[in-house]
Amino acid sequence: MAKRIAVLTSGGDSPGMNAAIRAVVRCGIWNKLEVYGIERGYEGLINGEFKEMTVSSVSDIMQRGGTVLKTARSQRFMTPEGFQRAVEKLGQFKIDGLGIIGGDGSYRGGLALAKAGKTVVCLPGTIDNDLNCTDFTIGFDTAVNTVLSAIGNIRDTTSSHERSTVIEVMGRHCGDIALYAGLTGGAEAILIPEKPADIDQICETLIKGKNRGKPHSVIIRAEGVEISSADLAKIITEKTGMETKVVVLGYVQRGGSPTARDRLLASRMGCKAVELLLQDGMTSKAVGIRGNDIVAYDLEEALNMPKQYDASIMDLAEILAI
Ligand code: F6P
Repeated sequence: MAKRIAVLTSGGDSPGMNAAIRAVVRCGIWNKLEVYGIERGYEGLINGEFKEMTVSSVSDIMQRGGTVLKTARSQRFMTPEGFQRAVEKLGQFKIDGLGIIGGDGSYRGGLALAKAGKTVVCLPGTIDNDLNCTDFTIGFDTAVNTVLSAIGNIRDTTSSHERSTVIEVMGRHCGDIALYAGLTGGAEAILIPEKPADIDQICETLIKGKNRGKPHSVIIRAEGVEISSADLAKIITEKTGMETKVVVLGYVQRGGSPTARDRLLASRMGCKAVELLLQDGMTSKAVGIRGNDIVAYDLEEALNMPKQYDASIMDLAEILAI
């Protein structure tokens, strides 16, 4: 009998999830596996929302943002009853291995399933880039490019009005979107949750720029930073005398067609996940990228790896913002 695998997407969606689903489905079928899609993440798993995937179920989806399997943040999965039902459904549908595309919370759910005896492989699908076991997550590059395009538009109007603008980007615990978009968008200052901000220093930099004739300044603040965007804007106005606006980019960052880089990452990781699910005796793994190599770690080990932000990027951004 053919081995049967399933794939689901869970947590916040990210551009490139569809490319990852496509890769799991097509690599699975290419390896003569039966592949099922589970709709609405762990919520759909509990409800038994399984559908058999064919080569054409994933046609014309690679370029689309979001996830064709839909996603959810399941509270029921966190309850003993909900979790038990999820385990039972995997047995009922005779699933030999499960691919989970999502972020940190989804990985923790995967680990719980593995501890209940299920075979799982987790793929990093989140715009936040907050998973420790991979240099980059699927969707991060697209989100950074979306923010970059917004910075360009905002800079035009900020410059015309000779103002400052605080742009708030996503990232509750991880400042990578702010860091990468801030550096590449030429932001005057970047605030991230990992590093306490010196607001006096930031204001001094802005004043220096203003005195040199700089017509505008753009400050990128990750949502997880302690001081709110509104309070930050107020302080900047008070200390620099520059009118300061706030733009919260919000969910615009989570949508859109994935970049080539995200599609490539998702395709490589999706096929790696299938390769792992085909291995006899494999119980739980997390797929990642290190340098240009697709790697796999034991899932529990992956969840315990410390996340460090790349301080060299912050240093560079500060040098370039003088
Ligand atoms: O997916 C991660 C993330 O985008 C965070 O950066 C953000 O804080 C959160 O999701 C918002 O998620 P929700 O869809 O639950 O509002």
